[in-house]
Amino acid sequence: MASVLVLNGPNLNLLGLREPGVYGSETLEDVVTNLRKVMQELGGELEHIQSNHEGVLIDAIHRAKGVHDGILINPGAFTHYSYAIRDAFASVALPTIEVHISNVHAREEFRHQSVIAPVVVGQVVGLGTDGYEWALRALVRKIEKK
Ligand code: DQA
Repeated sequence: MASVLVLNGPNLNLLGLREPGVYGSETLEDVVTNLRKVMQELGGELEHIQSNHEGVLIDAIHRAKGVHDGILINPGAFTHYSYAIRDAFASVALPTIEVHISNVHAREEFRHQSVIAPVVVGQVVGLGTDGYEWALRALVRKIEKK
């Protein structure tokens, strides 16, 4: 049975209200409710944490070692500059998939780089909030193949 930690970074608590033209109208609660359903269908377990604080996300990544089999993360703006989050992933070495709701490559230049990408298995980018579900299915497949 796969156990996955889902992490959402800064400002993602405002999904549905925040720039709906970019991020859509689904709330974070809608997204997590769907992920829990998918996880039930796949026969696994899921824990979700959203935080606007870098250290809280880092602590959660550390705690995941030995507890969860993989991590799905939307690091929000930390994607583009948090070497500390990148190092946390490198330290725990758990299979991780990075999700972005918007197509970061079609947006401002500063969003084109992810400092997290080199230490994760892969990314799901630009598929809207549906991307979380595809990322979760891909992560569970990866965990079960191990
Ligand atoms: C985001 C893209 C980031 O550039 C931005 O800072 C976010 C959300 C996305 O899901 O598209 O907060 O990660």
